[in-house]
Amino acid sequence: MPSGRSWFCGKCVIAVMGAAVFSGVAFLYSGLYPIGADVPHERLTSWALRTLRERSIASAARDIQVPDGLDQPDRLLQGGADYNNMCAGCHLQPGRTKSDFTLGLYPAPPNLAASQGQEPAGRDLDARHRWRFWIIKHGIKASGMPAWAPGHDDERIWNMVAFLDRLPELTPDQYQILTARDDDAGDHHRDGSRESLCCRNQIPSIGRPTTQERAAAMRMTGRRPRATF
Ligand code: HEC
Repeated sequence: MPSGRSWFCGKCVIAVMGAAVFSGVAFLYSGLYPIGADVPHERLTSWALRTLRERSIASAARDIQVPDGLDQPDRLLQGGADYNNMCAGCHLQPGRTKSDFTLGLYPAPPNLAASQGQEPAGRDLDARHRWRFWIIKHGIKASGMPAWAPGHDDERIWNMVAFLDRLPELTPDQYQILTARDDDAGDHHRDGSRESLCCRNQIPSIGRPTTQERAAAMRMTGRRPRATF
């Protein structure tokens, strides 16, 4: 009888779905999933997260307008100094192959000084610019990649996108020259606001330390502070 048969199957489907939801919730509560950053995800979880990340960024970045003149020297100088202050601790720089962040973060930050990153292959230059701009501006949930929009306007983010184009070609010396920032200019929040003054004192590793900061930090720690992060 067709009607009895379809009623029976409906019950089965509901039972199977209920069992699946129950097992999923039971697994979440069981505490069995290893959440530590030193144990890699299972392949299925990795695939699901990668697909989620790629689809989400591609769709959100689709309509971003790329400004003209991304290769202008001014942009490279501004973007280089910001990159050195805010990004090199995680994404490295010419002559440096690892840091505590690349060793310990999961997912590991890609080495942007050695390659063009890990965005899906086959993108044209504009698509790569949009992709990077979006990631830098908004960050990526549940990874170490922060959103930089708070405190940094779009122009500064585009300057960093411009710098990233050139970064893999630079020698360590060229990198030092391109990223140098005058100590007197203070940290990368050049507005001199209370907030940036407060945070610079608390985190002396942001920006290049001044002579006084270097001396103070050496007195406190007995070590030379690092120039970045
Ligand atoms: C605390 C570490 C950390 C800092 C600081 C950081 N990032 Fe990231 N970044 C990450 C991680 C981790 C990822 C990878 C996230 C993922 O794969 O889900 C990432 C991804 C990216 C990507 C995407 C690369 C790709 O190929 O898909 C770009 C571009 C990027 N970061 C640029 C920057 C810039 C520019 C800065 C500085 C303004 C910066 N990041 C600062 C950790 C960091």
